[in-house]
Amino acid sequence: MVPGPVLGIETSCDETAAAVLAPDGRVLAEHVLSQEREHAPHGGVVPEIAARAHLAHLPRIVRHVMEEAGLALSGLGAVAASGGPGLIGGLLVGSGLARGIAIGAGIPYVAINHLEAHALTVRLPGLAPGGAPFPYLLLLLSGGHCQCVAVEGVGRYVRLGGTLDDAVGEAFDKVAKLLGLSWPGGPALERLAAHGDDARFPFPRPMLGRPGCDFSFSGLKTAVAQTVNRQPQGALPRDTAADIAASFQAAVADVLADRARHALARFGAAHPDGRLLVVAGGVAANARIRAALESAAAGEGFTLVAPPVRLCTDNAVMVAWAAIERLRLGLADPLDFAPRPRWPLDAPDMRPEPATIAIPPSSYIV
Ligand code: KG4
Ligand code: ZN
Repeated sequence: MVPGPVLGIETSCDETAAAVLAPDGRVLAEHVLSQEREHAPHGGVVPEIAARAHLAHLPRIVRHVMEEAGLALSGLGAVAASGGPGLIGGLLVGSGLARGIAIGAGIPYVAINHLEAHALTVRLPGLAPGGAPFPYLLLLLSGGHCQCVAVEGVGRYVRLGGTLDDAVGEAFDKVAKLLGLSWPGGPALERLAAHGDDARFPFPRPMLGRPGCDFSFSGLKTAVAQTVNRQPQGALPRDTAADIAASFQAAVADVLADRARHALARFGAAHPDGRLLVVAGGVAANARIRAALESAAAGEGFTLVAPPVRLCTDNAVMVAWAAIERLRLGLADPLDFAPRPRWPLDAPDMRPEPATIAIPPSSYIV
């Protein structure tokens, strides 16, 4: 049972976000503040800067979404925050505020696994045919995570494979840096690749054709670095940079499509009723990658669903929605929940075992 509107808070990395959802999942208000400007001069996310920025901006953003939703804190039914995995400073800021609100308003608190929030986003009303019934296969492709997961139910996830080295977004960011593009590099690299010849540099396709669903990107990244270093000294000509970007992007798309085909075959054998391939994470914004995954899915008899880009990247709507899914099962968390920098999706405590469900609010409000 969802007792009323749910406030969601996301502070696990470099987006400070809050959202209010009605119990049925309608978005009443949402806001995302990117810290891109703070981190760009450093070429990546600096944890201490991220934590301080969350501390500086989160209270204002929460007030803003509450006003936009037309609610006082006393009008909330529950409050949720990403409790991990992520950078501990940001997790402490978001969880601290959420628990304070839970105590002040006397409402349940839900600690959300950030990966679970990405995994369940597609079930938001109106995003997928039939509301994306379980089971489905999820490809999570972001800057920090790259994994392939069978989503069998709330809290029921089977990891089929993941990256052996870099996350795919991380590979985009590193290659973009080699090409002199600013951070975060994925979107800039995609724009540059649009003018390039994707066949000029035959970069390796790591893991292509191998059994299983694991990924690897460090060899590809090294191949790009060697190609860049072989170019004549001085600034890389724009057309060469564009050809490198396009050739790299094509290699990534081929690898992801191949890995997805393997994962779909494995998933399909275990779940003959599953017909959806869901893609989430910032890299899902990439049109070339989406197209490659779409045809891989179609080839295996699956349909690709990708939430809109603003819901694929880090946001608080997904946190509030994951809380609604858990509250519907009677799940909430104690106020002494300790945020977890590492929190795998298949951790045993993700599963809603009967013993942990239907906790009455009075038992966890101090
Ligand atoms: O999911 P996300 O917003 O944050 C986390 O990493 O959790 O993903 C950000 C990542 C960055 O590495 C960024 O470069 C990459 O997604 N990205 C893209 C594109 N847009 C964002 N990569 C390739 N093509 C894009 N259009
Ligand atoms: Zn994320």
